Amino acid sequence: MTLGALSARLGRALRGYFHPAAGHVLLWDIKHAGLLRARLDEIEDSERRRLIGRHLDHFETHVLPVLHGLRAQVIHNDMTPDHVLVDTGDPERITGIIDFGDMVHSTLINDLAATATDHLAGAADPIEVAGDFLAGYHSVTPLETEEIDLLFDLLLTRLAAVAVITTWRTKRYPENRHYLGGDDPFAWNMLESLSGIDAATVRERFRAICGFSPRRRGASLPAGGARTSPSVDELRERRRRLLGPAYELFYDAPLHLVRGEGVWLIDAEGRRFLDAYNNVAHVGHCHPRVIEALASQAATLNTNTRYLDRMALDYAERLTATFPGGLDVCMFVCTGSEANDLAWRLAAAHTGGEGAIVTEHAYHGNTSAISRQSTGDVPPSARAAHVKTVPAPDGYRGPYRHGEPQLGERYAGRLDGAIDALRSDGRRPASFLYDSIFASDGILSPPDGYLRAAFERVRAAGGLCIADEVQAGFGRLGTHMWGFAAHDVVPDIVTLGKPMGNGHPLAAVITTPDIAGALAQRGGYFNTFGGNPVSCAVGLAVLDVLEREGLQENALRIGTYLQTRLQALAARHALIGDVRGAGLFLGVELVRDRSTLEPATVEARRIMNRMRDHGVLIGLTGPHDNVLKIRPPLVFSREHADQLTDTLDHALREL
Ligand SMILES: Cc1ncc(COP(=O)(O)O)c(C=O)c1O
Repeated sequence: MTLGALSARLGRALRGYFHPAAGHVLLWDIKHAGLLRARLDEIEDSERRRLIGRHLDHFETHVLPVLHGLRAQVIHNDMTPDHVLVDTGDPERITGIIDFGDMVHSTLINDLAATATDHLAGAADPIEVAGDFLAGYHSVTPLETEEIDLLFDLLLTRLAAVAVITTWRTKRYPENRHYLGGDDPFAWNMLESLSGIDAATVRERFRAICGFSPRRRGASLPAGGARTSPSVDELRERRRRLLGPAYELFYDAPLHLVRGEGVWLIDAEGRRFLDAYNNVAHVGHCHPRVIEALASQAATLNTNTRYLDRMALDYAERLTATFPGGLDVCMFVCTGSEANDLAWRLAAAHTGGEGAIVTEHAYHGNTSAISRQSTGDVPPSARAAHVKTVPAPDGYRGPYRHGEPQLGERYAGRLDGAIDALRSDGRRPASFLYDSIFASDGILSPPDGYLRAAFERVRAAGGLCIADEVQAGFGRLGTHMWGFAAHDVVPDIVTLGKPMGNGHPLAAVITTPDIAGALAQRGGYFNTFGGNPVSCAVGLAVLDVLEREGLQENALRIGTYLQTRLQALAARHALIGDVRGAGLFLGVELVRDRSTLEPATVEARRIMNRMRDHGVLIGLTGPHDNVLKIRPPLVFSREHADQLTDTLDHALREL
């Protein structure tokens, strides 16, 4: 209490003081915790490295954006027990503070966080000790709720800094081991134990200490306030009853998720899972900038596209600017299925054709028209007559294999057969609809020349080429914003969805004014929710984050690293037949025999479930469900890639 109050008094005394040197960058300044990443390699223990990586992820996505908006001034920043002098006759009486070497201009609350953290060693209930510091501080300098709510995160960040910096310096200067605290496992132990406790509960405790009412908790709290924790079985049964039997669940042991942040998903028991599967949370789960854009537009206006509204136009302009000239029109819808449905209607209206060409194991959506083109879900005997298929360009197990000459041309040649089959039924092709990464066909990058040769054939037969970028788009493949752009082709229509709204239902069709005009003459187009101002504000925020955080470049850098690590794993595990994909969209095909390519379907399922048990989420895909599907949020880092590969290695060894 006394020290907390003293820290606040010192802060008050420093108010209004500034010196140009106070703005220097200091590793001990909590707001610069991101700099710790550069020291992570110094930590030999991989678990600990990951722990710090997780904290830094959380800090950068959830803490820093709020921290920037809080009051700041010059702070002492180093009131450790060694720097406080007391009266020898009365140890409660503080007579002086020394060592102003870490003084820096920073957020005021960081001073309390640093002071409290540095006095936690040996505490039986560290939260109670931190609460005492908070009470003392608040009695002198009343804190704002935003500051109080951040305190626990800042304590953890300071602990992370102490742990990393002492480990690094002790390695570098072993002779100073004692002074540096290198023999003292306090910071690591404290960080490990505090990381496991529920942050929301601590925040409430801190708020109560300062006399504030608790913050409204997440939707997992029932209205009465008492926390109930239904079992997975209870939820599963309730779900079946209320949603019907058609819904599926991921994993043998389904997940009950309650929170997401960055690359992490947190279940009802507070366990964290590394999300290497959900491409929808493109810029990271619950990205604060996206949430802020959504909330502020929702609090201002939400209508539909029958009114004039700048938000839809600003977004359409920003989005179409990422496409080659000619693809200038953006029609908004809410899902990828709707986007493909609209694309199909546009193609049919524009060409007058009725035939559809797709790959053999395609998935493009669930509307009535598009589910018939989602051939992966329709056995050949039940296929609609107007839908013809071509083999996906699979150089690993398809009819033409890597190493054969003219691979792209040979796969494209199969379109002739589909076009002829339509003709012999008396139909003209309206469209060739393909997924830019052939995700459900097993995650395939089209061989050189494939798309160009395919487009030529389709167009010569009077059809349009539709690139489904619902999964692959928005920079995921690393080298380009859109998958088609890596192949020097320009589709007639491009469909977008999933990552577009980072979880908010937002999708679109991008096409030429001419093709869009085809529908204008046939009753026009209206979509109640597509293109509403809230969705467009979200879409704009996603584009902002993609650009500012350089996420396409990150997808290329980390994706390349991850692919290299997975290939190294293939050298040790015969079950891995092939590693492929682009950027952060990778497939690992499992086979029982590398020469017969017998699919290891059962093993793949087991691996996926084991990885889930070990805290890493991936999926399965491909005609034989034997391809591990790796498609994380683009904020994936090297440490995450390491965790994924190590866990896969472990799961493979456990088989
Ligand atoms: C390639 C592709 N296109 C379209 C869709 C349909 O999107 P939605 O589920 O948003 O309707 C999906 C969904 O998985 C997809 O993978």
